[in-house]
This record gives sequence, structure tokens and C-alpha cells, in this order.
Amino acid sequence: MKMAPNGHLHLNLKTLFLLIGFIGFVPFVANAATVKRYQFDIQVKNVSRLCHAKPIVTVNGMFPGPTIYVREGDRVVINVTNYAQYNMSIHWHGLKQFRNGWADGPAYITQCPIQSGNSYTYDFNVTGQRGTLWWHAHILWLRATVYGAIVIMPMEGTPYPFPQPHMEVNLLLGEWWNTDVEQVVKQGEKLGLPPAMSDAHTINGKPGPLFPCSEKHTFAMEVEWGKTYLLRIINSALNDELFFAIAGHKMTVVEIDAVYCKPFTTQALLIAPGQTTNVLVRADQLPSRYFMATRPFMDVPIPVDNKTATAILQYKGIPNTVMPIMPQLPASDDTDFASSYNDKLKSLNTPQFPANVPQTVDRHLFFTIGLGRNACPTCLNGTKLIASLNNISFVMPKIGLLQSHFFKIKGVFKTDFPDRPPKSFNYTGAPLTANLGTSLGTRLSRIAFNSTVELILQDTNLLTVESHPFHLHGYNFFVVGTGIGNFDPTKDPSKFNLVDPPERNTVGVPAGGWTAIRFRADNPGVWFMHCHLELHTSWGLKTAFVVEDGKGPNESVLPPPKDLPPC
Ligand code: C2O
Repeated sequence: MKMAPNGHLHLNLKTLFLLIGFIGFVPFVANAATVKRYQFDIQVKNVSRLCHAKPIVTVNGMFPGPTIYVREGDRVVINVTNYAQYNMSIHWHGLKQFRNGWADGPAYITQCPIQSGNSYTYDFNVTGQRGTLWWHAHILWLRATVYGAIVIMPMEGTPYPFPQPHMEVNLLLGEWWNTDVEQVVKQGEKLGLPPAMSDAHTINGKPGPLFPCSEKHTFAMEVEWGKTYLLRIINSALNDELFFAIAGHKMTVVEIDAVYCKPFTTQALLIAPGQTTNVLVRADQLPSRYFMATRPFMDVPIPVDNKTATAILQYKGIPNTVMPIMPQLPASDDTDFASSYNDKLKSLNTPQFPANVPQTVDRHLFFTIGLGRNACPTCLNGTKLIASLNNISFVMPKIGLLQSHFFKIKGVFKTDFPDRPPKSFNYTGAPLTANLGTSLGTRLSRIAFNSTVELILQDTNLLTVESHPFHLHGYNFFVVGTGIGNFDPTKDPSKFNLVDPPERNTVGVPAGGWTAIRFRADNPGVWFMHCHLELHTSWGLKTAFVVEDGKGPNESVLPPPKDLPPC
């Protein structure tokens, strides 16, 4: 473009095209989000495992359900139509749903369930996240069969911060009951006892050949010698923390809960319900058949299904008649392995993928985790098991909490959840067996927008110590510290890792120990937090945060979608 002698702009044709191209291009980029659409039909289907056929609730008749493939920056629109007799809601575990809790999914927290014969469209953007997450039913125990993987590819042209794998494979670890899971749970509630444990673990819905009738029900993946594979491993079990290993092969951990981490090599993984772990595996061993195996970590002798599920890693050209080799899994109570494994998890923390750990804390929270017994005249022993945070066992409301918050409906919940337990005691000391007076309530913590929060989750020995994988909706958090025994507010904070702590959405609080997490409350809404052991969640081990709106519409909860299910 040059100035004409008369002082007017003189555009030649080429410049004009360039200008139009440039002006037209900018808004185009701003709206470039690709829309990925999915249809989820909730249907009942007959499925057979361990010589038992039974009807199960599925998505599109698949078990596990379909994988959601998206790219960072995409908009995802998933229409869920419920053809089953159960009320349904689906949670996109780990997706932050910025200002958009309406798409989060936990029943009675962010929405009322989708009733039989009805539909609801989950509509959300995938912003600033890439990696492996998963989706699952978030009502009753229906996630036993209603779950699947979410794979978020990095933006076009952005490579992984590790060697490009030859192929990627999803491995969903799960549990299988021979009988109807909802009946199992009802029975447990009636008696006041834990429901019957699962009959098997599964890998991609299949228990593997160590179980009866399982020849057909074994997941196998074929590998070529010399190639590297990315395994996206998801713990979708209801109640078990799991070890996972592959015979003869080391794994390099590169990502946890859809956040890149500093790579490290290990023989075995520990993964809690709700968590995901991506590993690289190089097929560099003697071509043969190798078992991949999973079995629970049981640091305290609680009754869980301790049988080993297997899948097969098979080198190309090796016949199915070759007997696979079994891996060495850590002993079921190997707490040393568990803590040294967790110590190795560190955020990648590079300029491209920084760990933005809050360095100062606006709000200090200290929640005790308790298991206990409450009176229940109709139960088998006159008592029923109950679980609490700061001695409060959460009662599910009848109306979604997010609606109640947004439309200011009174009387649904209170925001007086205490910042610390009513009285301090020797949390992890000898069993107190005494119930400290667990109360029932729908009590939430109110958090100021954009404040930095530190939460210490402290296990107690009120009934027995146990490890608890805690999941926070709407956020990732940094796991700045963990320890065994009682948290010491004078000594422990000086040992916190505020540089490259692991960033995740679900963290295991060790049995008889504590875990410290930090996050910045920059996502307004009502966000559920609960133990991801379904057993404990149903006993009341849950609460929610009400994160207030900030200033103006860009820092406030979006209005609800028109098809939000009514209660
Ligand atoms: Cu994966 Cu509230 O759940």
C-alpha cells in the first residue's frame, strides 16, 4: 500500500486482497472452535461375564461406552437420551466446565437427573486441557457399567512433550458384579452394611483368562517390536485403588489426570478410582505374549475383590497358543511402594506447561475424614455405616444445588460448612470407636471468587483408617504435601512443594495420613467434592463448594441451558 501523490490511499489489487484476507481472517480464528457432536442412548443390554448373563445399563449398547475424541479448543455437544428405567446423569470427569457447571453432571448437584424417556444436551468447551479423562454416570452406583474414555488431543501443530508414540490404546480398569449392582447397593443399605464386593476386576470390560468363561472376554493388543505405544489408563473401578503392571516391560509415566508430568520409569503403577495415567511402553522384549495385570492395593484389611484381571500384550506374529507371562505386581499391602510411587509424581512445569501453584493462601481449610456408625433400628446390627467430613455426613438435596444457587432458591442448602472440625483430637490415634456425634446436613463452603484455597484432608481413626481418593469437580488442584499421622500446622507446611507438585483432579489421602491441596477458585459455580470410592460417597463422604461470581458477566455462572432437566 502506498500513498498516492494526491494524498489518498492507493490500493493496488494485491494489497486489497491481502487486507480483505487479513480482516476476514481474524474473526474467523476467534470463532474457529470445531464442534464435536455425540449421541448417547442410555439403553439396557444383556451382557455376559464369568458365566453370568445379566441386563446392564449402557451407552449405545457398549460396555465400556464409546470414547469421546476431541481436540483442545473444541466445543463438545453430547445429547443424552435415556431409554432405561433408571434416572441418569453423566459427569465428564476432570473437564473444568468454566462457568458452565450445567454441563458437569452430578445428579442433584449441578442438575436434576434425566428421567426415563427424556433427553439433555451437555454442551461445553474444552479449554486449556489436553490428555486422558473419562466420563461416567453420576447417580447411584450406575457408573459400574456406564463409563468411557475421553481423549483430548493437543491443538493442531502442538506435539506431545514426549516422543510421538506409534499407536495409542485406552485401558479402562473396572469392576464387575454378577448380580444387579443397584440391588446389591439397596441390600447393603437395608442391612446397614457394605454392599457385596464385586466379583471381578476388568480391563476394557473384560476380566481375562484367570476367570471362568473368559476365553472370549480378554482384551488383547498387538505390538510390533521396536515401536513405542501410549497407554491411556483409567481407573473406573467403584471401590478399589489398583496396581497395574505389564510382564517384562517398564512403563514411562508422562501424564496424570490430563496434565503432563516429569517422565519417570516404573515397573508398576498405582491408580485410584477417578484417576488417569498415561504411560509410554516400548515393545523391546523377546517377542512373545505378556499379561498386563491389575489388582487392588489394600493397605488396610478391608474386604475388596482382590482377584487379578488380565489383558494381553502380544507381539506381532506370535500365535495365541503361547502361554502369556505374568507380571510381578506389588504386594497388596505394599504401602512403601505406594508412597514412593506417589513421591515421583511431579508437574512437568516448563514455560509451555507451567505449574501455577498458588504461593499464598487466602483461605485455609482443614477437613477430617471419618467413618462411623449411626443408629439404625431397622438395620441388622441396629447401626449403619456412615461417613463424614468434619463430622458432617452430606445429605443429597431434592433440587440441584447449582439451580438453587443461581436462582437463589432458599432452604435447599446452607453455606455454613465449618472450615475446621468442631474439636481437634488425636485424629489418627488409637481407635476412638466412639462416634463423635456425626450430624446430617446439606452444608457447603462458600468461597470468594479467585481466592486461593488450601485444603488439608486428614484421615481419622474414628472407626478405622482407610485411604480415600478425593475428587474435586470444576478444578485441577496441586498436591503440595502429604504425610502419615496427624498434620502438623507448624512443621509440615515448610516441607510443601510449591514449585512442581503434581496437578490433578483426584488425589489419594493415605490411610491414617493427610494430603494438602491448593487451588485458585477462579471457576464460579457449585462444585462437588467427594471420595471417589462409591461406597464412601453413598455413606455421605462428600460436600460442595459454592464459588461466588466475580465481577461482571465474564466471571459469573452462565445462564442454564433451556433443556436443563426439571426435578
Ligand atoms: Cu468421577 Cu463426582 O466424579
